[in-house]
Amino acid sequence: MHRLTNRRILLGITGGIAAYKSAELTRLFKAAGADVRVVMTPAATEFITPLTLQALSGNPVHLQLLNPEAEAGMGHIELAKWADLILVAPASADFIARLAAGMGDDLLTTLCLASDAPICLAPAMNQAMWRDPRTQQNVDKLKASIGVKIFGPGVGEQACGDTGPGRMLEPVELAELASDQFETLALSGRTVYITAGPTREALDPVRYISNHSSGKMGYALAAAARDAGARVRLISGPVSIAVPDRVQCVQVESAQQMLDASLEGLADCDLFIAAAAVADYRPVSVAEHKIKKGSEEIMELHLVKNPDIVATVASSKNRPFTVGFAAETRDVVAYAQDKLARKRLDLIVANDVSAPGIGFNSDENAVTLVGPDSVESLPQTHKQQLARQLINRIARHLNEQAKTTG
Ligand code: PMT
Repeated sequence: MHRLTNRRILLGITGGIAAYKSAELTRLFKAAGADVRVVMTPAATEFITPLTLQALSGNPVHLQLLNPEAEAGMGHIELAKWADLILVAPASADFIARLAAGMGDDLLTTLCLASDAPICLAPAMNQAMWRDPRTQQNVDKLKASIGVKIFGPGVGEQACGDTGPGRMLEPVELAELASDQFETLALSGRTVYITAGPTREALDPVRYISNHSSGKMGYALAAAARDAGARVRLISGPVSIAVPDRVQCVQVESAQQMLDASLEGLADCDLFIAAAAVADYRPVSVAEHKIKKGSEEIMELHLVKNPDIVATVASSKNRPFTVGFAAETRDVVAYAQDKLARKRLDLIVANDVSAPGIGFNSDENAVTLVGPDSVESLPQTHKQQLARQLINRIARHLNEQAKTTG
């Protein structure tokens, strides 16, 4: 099911006793990292409540075509465009017939007509209804005309007491089949943590020590990792750019908060990328009230070392594949190699932050990817483009390491 991460699944439920299994199917989709929106026909609501599906999917359930309130939230055309895959489970004989006839007489058939997403059906009905030549013709027509995929049905004892073909496949089988509709990407099924932006180390209630990191590099990496199939947790210092869609973001201020957020759930993390510019030191104490200007010309600040986040992650038990950044102003590769070894990293991305037009707060960057036995330069380009190049290379190293360690 690892290909379902970040996928948008529109789950249609039609009237049938198997509708209760759609609750478990929704749970499995969510657990695999998919975003699920449920559409129910009126008959489906006789078998399972929309509230159950809403609670499990975490999204409002769509029920009617002409509902001004629902249209104001996410209109039916928007919903049709949103889906990466439509799965109707259970799909009744009546629904299959209406879909084959090209009808748009309820929300679910309309969505199927209006969407470019692949459509899959999990038929569930009495064995005689499934065997009926008209149902078989409808299924053949849907396969031939719009490439509908048919999952099942299974053979066995039916709710009505008959035995034969017509049972809906089990939720786990349906989730696997849905996952198979997507290609495997470089980071499919991986969980990736990325730190980004600056940290702020408070001096008093209104002042802090920080730096010029904009978060652009880290946020671009988060979007690229998401596009490579990963479930992404972005741990971000204060920045003013938007969180990429389908990326979970934890907002922090200080290095200590960034460390705490980085260690949370770390056992599930496969890849950790530290792109944040973390303050190396923080004030020894934070003044309770605003520090007043005194008569003295020079003021001394006492600072204490912050924890090293990436080094802590790299030395943790069952550590993830760990990638750091190195912000250098001279001898970029040599210093990066030193940090790689000292912090026990798998890879380090070195950038020359003294060069004009790249590094801190710029739209572009140029880096050198340094490993224990490799050095590769990636020339100056937009941070989005560079992030895609970096994620490809990092995923390759990660997958090679996973192969050798079994
Ligand atoms: O945010 P942008 O404006 O897009 O700019 C991008 C960037 C220049 C900030 C980014 O490309 C970058 O270089 N980030 C790392 C900056 C940095 O703090 O480098 P460093 O050489 O001081 O730290 C080495 C590594 O240790 C980094 O991965 C850093 O995140 C990590 N570190 C440092 C100190 C600390 N206390 N904890 C850490 O985890």
